Amino acid sequence: MISYKELGLVNTREMFAKAVKGGYAIPAFNFNNMEQLQAIIMAAAETKSPVILQVSKGARNYANQTLLRYMAEGAVAYAKELGWENPQIVLHLDHGDSFETCKSCVDFGFSSVMIDASALPFEENIALTKKVVEYAHQFDVTVEAELGVLAGVEDEVSAAESHYTKPEEVIEFATRSGCDSLAISIGTSHGAYKFTPEQCTVDPKTGRLIPPPLAFDVLHEIEKKLPGFPIVLHGSSSVPQEYVDMCNQYGGSLPNAVGIPEEQLREAAKSAVCKINIDSDSRLAMTGAIRKHLAENPSHFDPRQYLKPAREAMKAMYIHKIVNVLGSDGKAA
Ligand code: G3H
Ligand code: 13P
Ligand code: ZN
Repeated sequence: MISYKELGLVNTREMFAKAVKGGYAIPAFNFNNMEQLQAIIMAAAETKSPVILQVSKGARNYANQTLLRYMAEGAVAYAKELGWENPQIVLHLDHGDSFETCKSCVDFGFSSVMIDASALPFEENIALTKKVVEYAHQFDVTVEAELGVLAGVEDEVSAAESHYTKPEEVIEFATRSGCDSLAISIGTSHGAYKFTPEQCTVDPKTGRLIPPPLAFDVLHEIEKKLPGFPIVLHGSSSVPQEYVDMCNQYGGSLPNAVGIPEEQLREAAKSAVCKINIDSDSRLAMTGAIRKHLAENPSHFDPRQYLKPAREAMKAMYIHKIVNVLGSDGKAA
């Protein structure tokens, strides 16, 4: 058993309370490799923003859970070396799919876990979430749960269509499960193809797809039922067209990739939404920069040559999200 406190990590309780009160959101960035982690820490240290490092099942399969945990421990030391005296870094399990997975992360130094039982019937979702909460809270690890189902793929949880969270269920769910934060479904979804072209309108000036708006009425209903309770939005990449274009211009094929407009995320961050999950935008920034670099420098074969601009592109993207979208800069000074 290793406590996250020994690793210099923090849980989400205090940072969420401050974010809800202050009308901003904490960035939750997924990481799978060193360059992503470096870019996240550089961005958070430079802006003095609290940050959540998220590890998915896919990341654990790709990079190994043990290695990722040690990397997060190293990230705390790295942040201090960068001049961030009091880093507020959370290591969070993204989309935990069983009690055993959550327990193994709690035991191994994660400071926060998500149990995603959103595909289960209501009572089973409550029962499994409660079991994880009872275990995690013994070690002061915070727990995120999910109610409602996002469209698209949630690791291995898939749903043919999005089912918005039912506001009339949230009080009973939060009270009986004891979760610390709740991920809800209001129209976001995972990946770089959040809406089909048929669901969008076309901007006559640019020819770009304009997605349908998020269900803010559902969000506001939920806020009324659970005043001040921390709400989480998954699937919140905005799929920046500059990176989509860069991928497409240099040999890629990402037709009709579309995300959540940043103005809507900005609006959500001012509400009880206090954690916003972003993964795909990092993938797009990295891939766009690598494609461009290799196309312009066909003789390069040292990975550092193309990973350096990729890291810079991700860092710029993370800083932009922190400062211009979520408003979390300066909140961990
Ligand atoms: O929730 C989905 C995240 O973007 C993680 O995706 O399982 O491919 O790492 P992944
Ligand atoms: P995106 O695919 O929109 O980046 O969402 C990531 C996410 O929700 C991770 O849990
Ligand atoms: Zn997610």
